[in-house]
Amino acid sequence: MKYVLLVDDERPILDGLRLRLRNLQREWHIDDAQSGQEAIEKMGQQAYDVIVTDMRMPQMGGAQLLEVVRDRWPRTIRIVLSGDCDSKETALIVSLAHQFLSKPCEPKVLESVIQRCLLLHDLLHGSQVHALVGGIRKLPAAPRIYAKLQQMVKDDSVTVSEVARLISSDSAITARILQIVNSAFFRLARRVTNIEQAVSYLGFTTVRNIAMSVEIFSQWSTTALGPVDPEKLQLHTQQVSAAARSLTVKTAIVDDAMLAGLLHDIGYWILAQECPDDLEAAVNLAARKQMQLHEAETQIFGVSHAEVGAYLLGIWGLPYPVIEAVAHHHAPQRVASSHFDVLAALAVSHSLTPGDSTAFKADLPADAGVDATYLASVQAPFDWTEAEQRVAQTLQSFEGSP
Ligand SMILES: [Fe+2]
Ligand SMILES: [Fe+2]
Repeated sequence: MKYVLLVDDERPILDGLRLRLRNLQREWHIDDAQSGQEAIEKMGQQAYDVIVTDMRMPQMGGAQLLEVVRDRWPRTIRIVLSGDCDSKETALIVSLAHQFLSKPCEPKVLESVIQRCLLLHDLLHGSQVHALVGGIRKLPAAPRIYAKLQQMVKDDSVTVSEVARLISSDSAITARILQIVNSAFFRLARRVTNIEQAVSYLGFTTVRNIAMSVEIFSQWSTTALGPVDPEKLQLHTQQVSAAARSLTVKTAIVDDAMLAGLLHDIGYWILAQECPDDLEAAVNLAARKQMQLHEAETQIFGVSHAEVGAYLLGIWGLPYPVIEAVAHHHAPQRVASSHFDVLAALAVSHSLTPGDSTAFKADLPADAGVDATYLASVQAPFDWTEAEQRVAQTLQSFEGSP
């Protein structure tokens, strides 16, 4: 039985929510509270799996309540169900809630969001991931420049030159940004040599993603990674990220989809560093039996690189859709979804690019991936042929890469 707590200062809204969720009463025990204080009292007496709260309430607002919940009951899933929010409130919600839904909300949507959160939560907090990740003495810290850039974006007054100054403090990131802005991909008429120009041309999010990528891979390349070829893995994740961009360009999910592409195989970093022998054994098993590598990992570790990576990203505080997409990138079908979201974008772009198997020094079968039926089931705004064309065009810019 899962415990769900609904919080809203208006009684009719609480009653309406309970009514809409009545089909789930057998699986969920649903309580409600009419204020932040009442919610905290109830949480002190009962462990809740999920809290769904309004933002604007008298006395203690939703943000204040979620802050308390985050600190005192970090394992409870925090969902905001609220009316219109201004940009400051939205920034606050993103940092405090796992998911945000706007009122009025279809019962099916609320139901499916709660289900998805519970599924991911069970997966990431299951005993297998804990046993594996819990044994690691020191988890990698969130990349430094990336974390600073994240802080900067919250400040409305930040300027391009301030961002450029921060980027310039790291020569590897500076070099990579200039290399990308001048690559064939952007087809610029004139060569850009000034980092400030490059930042304003690429946009803040792309710069942030590049910083993340460089910082992570600079750590990777200096350490032995057992059966993983770090350069090939880096190329793979960059290709998936670019493919995800091509499928989500000009939509609200493009930033998260690109970030998910870049980070989806980060679990290999942990497995290769912490348990290189077991990872080697998984690779040998997959090669010998010609089975999917992530399945061989699950046989050996109890979980795969996907769940391990998602767990790390959760600790880093990355956006929830990114964590979810990473956790399920080899098994997107286990999430019941009927819209083209970050997970779907990652799964499709992963299937249309050379897969994880290309990053290993072994004869592994190609990744299974998803197909046209899956794409249709998530009601993507394009068909499989168009997806193939968009990704193929994007991958052309990688030709000649190692
Ligand atoms: Fe993977
Ligand atoms: Fe991958």
